[in-house]
Amino acid sequence: MAIHNKSHSNHALMSLNKMRKDKTFKQKTADDFVIPERVTILHSIMDCCEFLRTLPDNSIQLICVDPPYNLELAGWDIYDNYIEWASKWLDEAYRVLSPYGSMVIFGGIQFRDAKSGDILDIIQHVRHNTKFKLINTIIWHYKNGMSAHRYFANRHEEAIWLAKTNDYYFDLDSVRTPYTEEELKLALKDKRLNPENTKKGKNPTNVWEIGRLNGNSKERVGHPTQKPVAIIDRFVKALSYPGSVVVDFFAGSGTVGRVCIEEGRHCMMCDSDVESLRYFEQHIKNMAELGENTEYLSVDNVEQFYQSIDGE
Ligand SMILES: C[S@@+](CC[C@H](N)C(=O)[O-])C[C@H]1O[C@@H](n2cnc3c(N)ncnc32)[C@H](O)[C@@H]1O
Repeated sequence: MAIHNKSHSNHALMSLNKMRKDKTFKQKTADDFVIPERVTILHSIMDCCEFLRTLPDNSIQLICVDPPYNLELAGWDIYDNYIEWASKWLDEAYRVLSPYGSMVIFGGIQFRDAKSGDILDIIQHVRHNTKFKLINTIIWHYKNGMSAHRYFANRHEEAIWLAKTNDYYFDLDSVRTPYTEEELKLALKDKRLNPENTKKGKNPTNVWEIGRLNGNSKERVGHPTQKPVAIIDRFVKALSYPGSVVVDFFAGSGTVGRVCIEEGRHCMMCDSDVESLRYFEQHIKNMAELGENTEYLSVDNVEQFYQSIDGE
């Protein structure tokens, strides 16, 4: 498989060899890594496949994407043969993903008048035509949504978590949710549960209750399908580690980039729409208003990205 640039290949191989030596890598948690003083961000405006072709094999810890699904929500949401198109970025994503890495794909299920292209089509394709392993389906449950009279009002969307090998990194401790005092007392009496883990909090399960962004939400930056920070944050914390590389090649407003700055992960984003840059600026302004860290190094291309993080 092609590696397009020597410095890229060096970085990918160096980090891979470091991990190979360390047999317990998949048991590590965020505390085992150093948080970079300043993360590096690349935000490219181009087609996702063109962008992915510039990345080296086996080099990315987390790919977190929210693709278009032929819903005609905007001009970018129309692809004639959805799966034929999606298979191109799925194959590239598999190639660039680290053996310890994960890929998250958001999506919903289309019901009546289904056209090609929803998360079920993606799951079907991935199962039968790729080597990805399906680790979890996450149900994103929200209480706010449209009303309905001829069917039960929809209150969930899905995300799938895929991995390349069974050695994927997973830091459950970083995303455990606290027990109430009462629940903790009961859980500590439960002989089936390990008390050490119980004290750290609950497994958040694969049903996540996180509110959707209302029109007037302070998090909004203007993108029509912007995802809440809270949902992306849980994936970034659990499936990537401080100083690792996260990629979102359907960046939209750049919610993934925003979370990476907060959580100390380097991030490469790509979107075909130049407006993506403006939305991301608004995310940074929102972060500044909240007093959050907004420092990052912005680079112009993949080569500069790897040069910047190789220096660490
Ligand atoms: C569902 S939105 C992502 C929203 C994002 N999760 C957020 O929180 O803002 C999908 C994005 O994919 C972009 N897109 C569509 N086709 C693309 C392509 N071929 N290459 C790169 N980006 C593309 C669109 O411009 C759109 O911003």
